[in-house]
Amino acid sequence: MKLSTQRLFDDCYGKYAIAAVNVFTMEQVLGVFEAASVSRSPVIIQTTPVARDYAGATMIIAMIDAAAEIFPDVIYALHLDHGVEAHIDSALSSGKYSSVMIDASHESFEDNVQRTSAIVKKAHAHGIPVEAELGVLSGVEDDIDVSDSQAKYTKPEEVLAFVSQSHCDSLAIAVGTSHGAYKFAGKQGIRFDILAMIQEMLPKFPLVLHGGSAVNPYHVTRINGFGGSMMTGSRGVKDEEIQKAIPLGICKVNIATDLRILWTAVHREHFYLNPCLFDPIVPGKQYRKELIEMLVSKFELLGSKGKS
Ligand code: G3H
Ligand code: 13P
Ligand code: NA
Ligand code: ZN
Repeated sequence: MKLSTQRLFDDCYGKYAIAAVNVFTMEQVLGVFEAASVSRSPVIIQTTPVARDYAGATMIIAMIDAAAEIFPDVIYALHLDHGVEAHIDSALSSGKYSSVMIDASHESFEDNVQRTSAIVKKAHAHGIPVEAELGVLSGVEDDIDVSDSQAKYTKPEEVLAFVSQSHCDSLAIAVGTSHGAYKFAGKQGIRFDILAMIQEMLPKFPLVLHGGSAVNPYHVTRINGFGGSMMTGSRGVKDEEIQKAIPLGICKVNIATDLRILWTAVHREHFYLNPCLFDPIVPGKQYRKELIEMLVSKFELLGSKGKS
């Protein structure tokens, strides 16, 4: 059953978090719903503009509707991830989305407020809540030290003004994570001091963690062992960090890279070990199986298992 994203946040705030999983293939859509069903976990399924272009918005939405029909027990919300005005208009008029994100975080504070509040007006007229972003997520490279990248973090002193002027319903913040497979080097990690200050400014307000993938070294090793060459030594978000972020107001943890790394590991391994095979169904089944296992453990980590 599709529920409102805000309802999911009301239920989980401070206690557990909802995995927001980026999908663009049939195997991923089915994998997310089956994992949520076996875990009795609520889930947010989300599509980026790139994902909507890849399958076509009509196709990806139809796949999600079909999965919801196959798994009627699953409590889910459908979210537009990293949208700009054109995607949001299309998502709102489809009537299919539970929530949308406007990503104007690269703009100045004033322009971000202005673009976000314009979207909020439109989306609220459709009864749809809006996630906005303040602060810029960025990759942290080995040679850039933390103080150099400080300017990119969300400024806690700005969050209250941003939320009250834009009227957004949830806020994606930059507290050290970044998109992709190379998030942290050395001792870097989530800046819990900044996160705690943000929560103090916005008590009970749902916060969103982008760049939530763990980047499991086992799958990186697997990729590299079967002909790949992903950079080793960098890492994703630690399980302990995710757990520590939940009581500090993180309600939604975005996960995309972990699905891609797993896809690559499964397919590289399969074709490397079976050079004569050419049936996509064989690795496709293996991917779905391993994806379900991975998501089941994510729901356990986030504490959402058994909450639907
Ligand atoms: O932040 C979202 C994803 O990591 C980027 O996904 O390639 O579907 O835009 P995309
Ligand atoms: P990852 O790259 O860590 O999976 O982050 C995904 C994300 O934030 C999607 O919006
Ligand atoms: Na989002
Ligand atoms: Zn993101």
